[in-house]
Amino acid sequence: MASPLLTVGGIETAYGQSKVLHGISLAIGEGEVVTLMGRNGMGKTTTVRSIMGLTPPAAGSIRLRGQEIRGLPAYRVAQAGIGLVPEGRQIFPNLTVRENLVATAVERGAGHSRWSQDRVEQLFPRLAERAHQMGSQLSGGEQQMLAIARALLTNPMLLILDEATEGLAPLIRREIWRCLESLKQAGQSILVIDKNLAALNRIADRHYIVEKGRIVWSGQPAALAADPALQQRYLGV
Ligand SMILES: Nc1ncnc2c1ncn2[C@@H]1O[C@H](COP(=O)(O)OP(=O)(O)OP(=O)(O)O)[C@@H](O)[C@H]1O
Ligand SMILES: [Mg+2]
Repeated sequence: MASPLLTVGGIETAYGQSKVLHGISLAIGEGEVVTLMGRNGMGKTTTVRSIMGLTPPAAGSIRLRGQEIRGLPAYRVAQAGIGLVPEGRQIFPNLTVRENLVATAVERGAGHSRWSQDRVEQLFPRLAERAHQMGSQLSGGEQQMLAIARALLTNPMLLILDEATEGLAPLIRREIWRCLESLKQAGQSILVIDKNLAALNRIADRHYIVEKGRIVWSGQPAALAADPALQQRYLGV
């Protein structure tokens, strides 16, 4: 692995009395695309919420470039350099496309702000066309593009996408995957959660599989692709 960007060590997370993560550990190197896979309800979103500080873990460590970020509130985690495209998109319906984009943008100082309004609109020309429409007037695919663009405008060291293609038409899905490939080529570190194994295999450097709040397998895409029994057991495909 490249030098570590994010290192998650043994996090344990509960909703009230109900413990959901039982010691999740994973690492993402600089410029890597890493996936978190597993069937419904296994703890993928909870892992993301734990990393973001939205559902703080009770134990374990989360380091971003060596700095402990466990225990920070979500806005501080975002400021520290993690951009989340949450499950279900959650754009602002009553703001225009452009207002959605400027609402959360972060300048990181000279040389560090790779993403600008212009650049995200080049990546997603539809957003430029719809700049003055309200978020609520966008199609599902356009909302997803807006959610990704908004996360990029925080100039994140790590971009996390939780089910970014779910419920979208095939053509739009392909556009999102193409976008992720170009982000990867540009050196963006990404943690991606999705159900499309073929698409994940094309883009990923490494996979992690989570089962009932534990990492049960990790390895290279080629190893997973070559092991139908493993896919059947943990992914049900
Ligand atoms: N807000 C909550 N309160 C209580 N339990 C929750 C809450 N959110 C999730 N859970 C439970 O935690 C477990 C893990 O859920 P999580 O959403 O992390 O799974 P997931 O792997 O993201 O699933 P999916 O593929 O369906 O998105 C599940 O058993 C779920 O029912
Ligand atoms: Mg989920």
